[in-house]
Amino acid sequence: MAVDLLLGLQWGDEGKGKIVDVLTQNYDIIARFQGGPNAGHTLEFDGIKHVLHTIPSGIFHENAINLVGNGVVIDPVIFKKELDNLKQFDLDIKSKLLISRKAHLILPTHRLLDAASEASKGKAKIGSTLKGIGPTYMDKTGRNGIRVGDIELSSWKEKYRALANKHEAMIDFYAAKIEYDLNELESEFFAAVEVLKELTFIDSEEYLYQAQKSGKSILAEGAQGSLLDIDFGTYPYVTSSNTTAAGACTGLGVAPGKIKEVFGIFKAYATRVGSGPFPTELFDSYGETMGRVGNEFGATTGRPRRCGWLDLVALKYAVQVNGVTQLMMMKGDVLSGFDKLKVCTSYSYKGEQIDHLPFNIEEENVTPIYTELNGWKEDLTKMRSTDEFPKELNEYIDFLEKELEVPIKIVSVGPDRTQTIHR
Ligand code: GDP
Ligand code: IMO
Ligand code: MG
Repeated sequence: MAVDLLLGLQWGDEGKGKIVDVLTQNYDIIARFQGGPNAGHTLEFDGIKHVLHTIPSGIFHENAINLVGNGVVIDPVIFKKELDNLKQFDLDIKSKLLISRKAHLILPTHRLLDAASEASKGKAKIGSTLKGIGPTYMDKTGRNGIRVGDIELSSWKEKYRALANKHEAMIDFYAAKIEYDLNELESEFFAAVEVLKELTFIDSEEYLYQAQKSGKSILAEGAQGSLLDIDFGTYPYVTSSNTTAAGACTGLGVAPGKIKEVFGIFKAYATRVGSGPFPTELFDSYGETMGRVGNEFGATTGRPRRCGWLDLVALKYAVQVNGVTQLMMMKGDVLSGFDKLKVCTSYSYKGEQIDHLPFNIEEENVTPIYTELNGWKEDLTKMRSTDEFPKELNEYIDFLEKELEVPIKIVSVGPDRTQTIHR
């Protein structure tokens, strides 16, 4: 049986959590393949809103196994908080939630290093969520990291001490001085590790191989978005993992040939949280309305998200890099009442008009060129079928499909599970 992927095509927060929850009924296994608690995936149903950071978004479905893959980085402290939040729902976590032994751990000193690094960068800061993501992936690729499987061994605390001592020396090296009490952070960390140890650790690549062989269906859940990819994003204003399709192969141990559908998810406009270039960013009342109506505040940090028009140059690039086979358009409802809608279809770049993403999309290099479309007045949030769609929304969708050359199969008209329309 094949593996399907769902990933964000913009700068994250496209609505991945909502759609994974909706799609879980079609799958046996939901597997997160990269990122860590920098992610905030929101799900809404039965009047309750849930925000997940490391735990896959299929966790509320009784029959699905949720797997945290080897490509994910886990902070036991945040993981424990997520588990605490789930306690009230009476889920069988021990059998439904599996963790790869090869996933790396975020240590308290990784978070401190993130803070010291960002504070030292001044204006050039990445705008990191400060969850220790960068330093943890640095230790992974630097071959110093501690993995989930290590905490099953008696010697792991010695390894921990050596690494934490090294991190303390590194923290001192940064120009910006940060205050911390490592004893306190460590007691919280070690207590959370004990909670983590009660969960089920597995050799997840073997598990997924056998699952595929026995005909189980698997959906890989991405975190962040393609423009935050370490290789293909707006470097250095990116995260530290491969958020694009290939990341699912390395982050789960799934062979490339086994991937079938690639679901690419995007907002009907664009948002970004943190620093970095954003050519279609708006500083006017349109951007303000998107932020207000779309409730654009980070699910992890609460920071306001920057808002702007849909950037088709960037979206096409993401569709290409990921090999997207089906698109999902989110938050169309937020654009109701806009008198006009602009879509960036090319850039003016060094005196030329281009329709691909150049090496550098900083403001001084790139000016967006827009195509204007008509807006719609109707409230979409109560609509449950495409038959109810206003003409202008259909025109917007048709325009995007034609430009992107991939069908838009889902249109989301609100945060709730039920506000999901299949085309
Ligand atoms: P993720 O990180 O990709 O899972 O997305 P987030 O959860 O960080 O951000 C998406 C936000 O938009 C959440 O607050 C969702 O509840 C909300 N949302 C998702 N789909 C829709 C939609 O179609 N319309 C509206 N208005 N909100 C949506
Ligand atoms: P989800 O999965 C939006 C952004 C941060 C920052 C940059 C690097 O909810 O879509 P990091 O903490 O990785 O060092 O931050 O990436 N960022 C996200 N933005 N959604 C996310 O995840 C993000 N995860 C990281 O704001 O600009
Ligand atoms: Mg999010």
